[in-house]
Amino acid sequence: MLNFTYHNPTAIVFGRGTIAKLPELIPAADRVLLIYGGGSIKRNGVYEQVREALQDRTMVEFGGIEPNPRYETCLRAVELCRREQIDFLLAVGGGSVIDGTKFIAAALKYAGDEPWDLVKDQAPIHAAAPFGAVLTLPGTASEMNGTAVISRESNQQKLFFSSPHTFPKFSILDPEVTYSLPPRQSANGTIDTFVHVLEQYLTYPVDAPLQDRFAEGILLTLLEEAPKIQADPHNYDARANLMWCATHGLNGLIACGVPEDWASHMIGHELTALYGVDHGRTLALVMPRIMRHQRARKRGKLLQYAARVWGLRDGDEDARIDEAIQRTESFFHSLGVSTAMSDHGVPPEAARLVAERLAARDMRLGEHADLGPDQVEEILRL
Ligand code: NZQ
Ligand code: ZN
Repeated sequence: MLNFTYHNPTAIVFGRGTIAKLPELIPAADRVLLIYGGGSIKRNGVYEQVREALQDRTMVEFGGIEPNPRYETCLRAVELCRREQIDFLLAVGGGSVIDGTKFIAAALKYAGDEPWDLVKDQAPIHAAAPFGAVLTLPGTASEMNGTAVISRESNQQKLFFSSPHTFPKFSILDPEVTYSLPPRQSANGTIDTFVHVLEQYLTYPVDAPLQDRFAEGILLTLLEEAPKIQADPHNYDARANLMWCATHGLNGLIACGVPEDWASHMIGHELTALYGVDHGRTLALVMPRIMRHQRARKRGKLLQYAARVWGLRDGDEDARIDEAIQRTESFFHSLGVSTAMSDHGVPPEAARLVAERLAARDMRLGEHADLGPDQVEEILRL
């Protein structure tokens, strides 16, 4: 097992009716900014629940955080916070709203001139304004990590930062608020979680059996629970199980002591920046291609994945790996997500373009940091 440090400061409040606990979680005298997205919370009753819980508090609102939250929009929220002397930020929404809130929280305490440096140069973050979250879309695990991914309209960039200062103080996870998710967003969240887990699992063995079994447990649970939601979007237990899987997919626990390979995400972010493909969908495109391209280097773990997740234990090893990759794709297809580039509006020239954009930032991907532009191009051409 590799060395690691693990610390997660986010308190999770999980279950039905838990939005009512907000007053216990936010300091009574704080002036609160409620941050939300395009308005789904006003159509599914979440907004009313938050307003009711915080009726005695001083609260200002900022709506309009986009999917793939934009820098330009976050800066307007920063100005509002300063004008209104906000003490505490409350994100109510999916990964985009929570990520946007993290950026606003860090920008409020940033001493430099241009907060874009937080993502462009990974400028050190020494402090951030306190914030909490009410999660409405499970998938990103932003509710229990310190990462945010921010897009900039003016230069078509999508970049991330990560800091111990930008973990939510708390996150409320009420599975009932996910009943209103359109099937497309439920599918995106499930694939996002599935791929997060693979990126911390499908590398090379380091004799970390507990982490492997955590990862396999999440994958198997996703395979079991996702179809239940398709059959009945109001299946509370299935929604709850998916939500808890998603949080563990990227809260740092399964990454302890194991190698990681975030190539699918790095390439996927470029596809979103260039072609506007939903985050979860970019991963459905890229992960199977990485599995095929890197099958020699990932052989040991691919065989383990085939055996323990898909029950493929007998016969020719290469055939087992092929079958496991195919079943992974079939799972994405069963959620209504195609793994063909053209179905997502990604043209063949994307392969070179993405490779060049990553090369311009000196990015070398994979668990061995040895995938350069040529390999990225090959992956996207498969
Ligand atoms: O904006 P509203 O109106 O709220 O609607 C949203 C949005 O249109 C809607 N939605 C959310 N909850 C809903 C709902 N609709 C009905 N009922 C509900 N309960 O869903 C749409 C998509 O929301 P978004 O927040 O954009 O999706 P997601 O949670 O998938 O977040 C994607 C963003 O997170 C980043 C991605 O790159 C992308 O920018 N990621 C963040 C990570 C992190 N912080 O650790 C890691 C991830 O790998 C990912 O990169
Ligand atoms: Zn993701």
